[in-house]
Amino acid sequence: MKEIIGVIGAGTMGAGIAQVAAQAGHKVVLSDTNPEQLLRAEQQIKKSIDKLIEKGKFTAQLGQEILHNLQFSTQLSEHSQASLVIEAIVENLSIKHQVFQQLEQVVGPTCVLASNTSSLSIASIGACLQDPSRFLGIHFFNPATLMPLVEVIPGVATQKEVTNQIENLIGSWHKTVVVCKDTPGFIVNRVARPFYGEALRIYEEGLADFATIDWAMTTIGGFKMGPFTLMDYIGNDINYTVTETVFAAFYYDPRFKPSFTQKRHMEAGFLGRKSGRGFYDYKEGSSAPVPTEDFNLGRQIFERILVLLINEASDAVFMQVASPAAVDLAMTKGVNYPKGLLAWADELDAGWVLERLESLFTEYGEDRYRPNPLLRRKAREQSKFIL
Ligand SMILES: NC(=O)c1ccc[n+]([C@@H]2O[C@H](COP(=O)([O-])OP(=O)(O)OC[C@H]3O[C@@H](n4cnc5c(N)ncnc54)[C@H](O)[C@@H]3O)[C@@H](O)[C@H]2O)c1
Repeated sequence: MKEIIGVIGAGTMGAGIAQVAAQAGHKVVLSDTNPEQLLRAEQQIKKSIDKLIEKGKFTAQLGQEILHNLQFSTQLSEHSQASLVIEAIVENLSIKHQVFQQLEQVVGPTCVLASNTSSLSIASIGACLQDPSRFLGIHFFNPATLMPLVEVIPGVATQKEVTNQIENLIGSWHKTVVVCKDTPGFIVNRVARPFYGEALRIYEEGLADFATIDWAMTTIGGFKMGPFTLMDYIGNDINYTVTETVFAAFYYDPRFKPSFTQKRHMEAGFLGRKSGRGFYDYKEGSSAPVPTEDFNLGRQIFERILVLLINEASDAVFMQVASPAAVDLAMTKGVNYPKGLLAWADELDAGWVLERLESLFTEYGEDRYRPNPLLRRKAREQSKFIL
């Protein structure tokens, strides 16, 4: 029989993670202190499974078995038989500590404990445990049922065997697993920052409007969504908070500096699709702004954002956050980038990327454009990131 999996927190992420584990054949206990939230999660999972049956992804009988394997509870004690418990509750360190300290009293000694945190360090959460060696980060992306990427993050205290065990287990759930260091934003939320930040900066300098920047990134760059459409989709409140958190966690490195434009949109309640207005207007009857389809301008915009993304990907490798292959996999599977950023650098040539960064650095004299040492090395040695 497969291991029993526990998930704590039946919100956006917890419900999805529980469904993924149940679809992989596990018995799953999903717990939440709020019974109404548990009911909502149950309905959401049922609806999603019905859709999958309709689409022919699995039979009605298998669908029933998956639902049967899910148990919903308001009691933490229901996790006593679990081999792995993933916490997906509110992003608050002291509340997470309380939950993990109680959980440690409930589970067996070999049960692995994990957090789905996006912005807290794994070390800081695990520090409350008597045995932090069995604790690590398992970071799913939203929606967990659809996004293939999962970042597995060992903390300083995590036992190597625990990381290996979880890498194999989550891999068996039809997910793409990348292992990365416990650093702010892990891989995706760190490397993706310039996609938003540099687009906002280009707008703030008056070089182009939102629609033109989005047009450049989708039509010329091949990205599925432009930065402003994507920020509106994620929500300006959420996206701004991630940027601010990463900026503070990197000791205010100017590379991650948040933007006033996004802050003002957030303050004004222009949160994006969910509030009916963000960078764009989503109210009925409103028409989409027309981009200036100037190819030379578009190319400049795309190249400026791309070289900053490549610089960040290079820094993640340089600082040993993850391997080049893991960074590329993370950006293609976690945020749907059309190509791995380092493979892109190899294709364009590291020297070309470096030249553009150096010219931005010279023009602005700002640290946000400083080229990464690994990128410099690749350019000098004329070598590739991806072998
Ligand atoms: N939303 C995302 O896009 C996303 C993506 C990746 C990771 N995360 C991380 O996942 C975690 C959950 O985020 P979310 O968006 O699903 O939040 P959410 O607000 O949708 O859900 C949180 C759930 O936790 C429950 N909860 C709160 N305190 C609890 C407690 N003490 N015991 C049991 N249940 C409790 C709440 O009732 C709620 O149902 C956070 O750590 C977040 O950083 C979120």
